[in-house]
Order: sequence, then structure tokens, then C-alpha cells
Amino acid sequence: VSADADPIPRTVSWDAERPAVRLIDQRRLPGSLEFLDCRTVDEVCVAILGLAVRGAPALGATGAYGIALAAAVGEDVERAAAALVATRPTAVNLAWGVQRAVAAWSARGTGAARALAGGAAGALAEAERVADEDVACNRALGAAGAALLGDGARVLTHCNAGSLACVGYGTAVGVIRAAAEAGKGPRVWVDETRPVLQGARLTAWELDRLGIPATLVADVAAAGLMAAGEVDCVIVGADRVAANGDVANKVGTYGLAVLARHHGIPFYVAAPTSTIDLATPDGAAIVVEQRPAEEVTTIAGVRVAPDGVVARNPAFDVTPTSLVTALITEHGLATPPLRSFLSAT
Ligand code: MRU
Repeated sequence: VSADADPIPRTVSWDAERPAVRLIDQRRLPGSLEFLDCRTVDEVCVAILGLAVRGAPALGATGAYGIALAAAVGEDVERAAAALVATRPTAVNLAWGVQRAVAAWSARGTGAARALAGGAAGALAEAERVADEDVACNRALGAAGAALLGDGARVLTHCNAGSLACVGYGTAVGVIRAAAEAGKGPRVWVDETRPVLQGARLTAWELDRLGIPATLVADVAAAGLMAAGEVDCVIVGADRVAANGDVANKVGTYGLAVLARHHGIPFYVAAPTSTIDLATPDGAAIVVEQRPAEEVTTIAGVRVAPDGVVARNPAFDVTPTSLVTALITEHGLATPPLRSFLSAT
């Protein structure tokens, strides 16, 4: 199946006509599938901050296309890079994607010579490579992960680590998808994922489009499902994997890992190697983004807490490597220390 035949369009792409970075506007899902065209780097930054686009690999591609946009429309590329990277601190793919496109742009010389040598074209070609590689990596890690699942596996997933969190196919959902394509008939428990409901809004929508049986549950239902023997494994994505294997992912992930260990259930993390950050030694060094309190005091824009209540909203938490059964990458299962794993790939 080619990426173009995918029932879910690419999350991030390039519109050469305008020019623009074209995003699926994830704030509109599941109600409607709409696209958002960003024609300036500021518009890209606003889209990232407002979660119109989110998910680590999708942010990587958006960052790369953001640099291509800056170069194409004559914005200051260095300033654009700083602005894009500053939007969200936790997903390492964002800075990684920006840096790849900036390096391709810089490689074409300096100043006016760079324009003549096709600096903008170089940045765009690199952004397209980042996007294409993402889909290929996810298919590869999906196949590697699917081999771990038995027939009819009941998989619990958290947040959205699907096509919408990437350019296409998905990481954690990619594993489930590859198992379905292999005829293994997986079934999915979808955590709703408070506060902003990526599971309910996005993962449930994707699985419905893919025809994979899924049941939505409140996050707090996971413990009881595990105790009742109704979960065979947990598979989540990652925003940053430290060199020692500690994993930052959507808030609530750590709790699931603790629960999985208590119940003797495998806890898998699926992520491309672009999410591994060797510059971060361990989870303690990962910056966890703090998001607006309103995401907690409201649900879908409706206030559910008293005025003036104090709320804290960490967007991610860190799961220690000791609780991770396997890290599934496009190069197979990775075992810490990850520096050795990466140098062997
Ligand atoms: O705040 P979000 O929606 O960007 O958080 C996304 C996640 O935590 C995903 O699980 C992670 O980025 C992996 S996506 C393949």
C-alpha cells in the first residue's frame, strides 16, 4: 500500500503553489477533516502552539517544512529556526527536523550566493526527505513491533501515536496497524487521554478509518482492565528517549508503565531513532512542557472546575527505562545504552 493510498492523508505536506506548509488541522477532528495552510513561519508556530499539529514525528516534519517555507518566502532562516524550536520543548524531533533543513539550506553557501545555489530548494528537498523517511521508518518499526503481538492481542494505547502524530502510518498505532495487515486481528483499548483528549479525538478516529476494532475508555479505567486480564500489552509512542532509555511521553504514560509492571503485562514504546536523544543522558534532564491551566479546567472548551481553582498541566511525564519491556524502532528492538545501539545501526 503506498502512502498516497493511505486512508489517512499525510499530516504535513508542502503546497508549492502558495507556497505553504499544509497541515491536517487536528483541532477540528473528529468532527471534520480540514487542512490548514501556513504561509509564514509565525503561522506555523501558532499552529504548533495551538496543537493544530502535534506528535513528535509530525513536529519534526513541520519544523523542516517551516524552514523550507522561511527560505522560500525570504524570511530570516536563523530566526525562523529559533522560533520553531522554542514552541514546544519536549519532543526532540522538532529541533532535529529544523536542524536537518537548516543544514541543507546552509550547505548551499552564504548570502546571495546561497539563493543562486538553490538554498530554498535544498531546504525543501530535505524537508521532503524527512517526511518520506518518517513514513518508511514507521512501516519498518510497525513490522518489527507486530512480530511481538499474538493473534487477537488486546492492546492498550495512550494519546495519539498514529498517523496524525507523524507524517503517516504511525508509531504505536503503526505497530497495531502492521499486526492488522498481517492478519493478527488486534483489538485496541484507546485511552481518552485527558486533558486534551488525543485518544478520544484522534486515535479513535484513525482506528475507525482503518477498520481496526477499538474501544474507548477513560484513562482511569486502565487499572481495572489490567486486573481483569483484559489487556495483553501496552504500546505507546515517545517524545524523547534519553541515552539511558528513559522515555518522555504524554502525561499518564508513566502511570500505565507502573500498572503494566504490577500486572505482569509487557509495556512497549514504539519510536523512530530520530526520537532518541543521546545529548540527554537520562529522564531527569528532559524538559517537560507545562501547558495552560485552561486545558485542565475545561473539557472541549466547557469549564468543569470552579473559577479561580489552581491547576497544573504537565503535558508529559517520564517513564524509567526499567519499566520499558522493549523500545521498538525502525532498526528493530533497541536495548540501552542507546549510544551503542545507534552506532551499530
Ligand atoms: O502533546 P502531544 O499531542 O504533541 O503529545 C504527543 C505524544 O505524547 C505522543 O505519544 C508522542 O509524540 C509520540 S507520537 C508518534
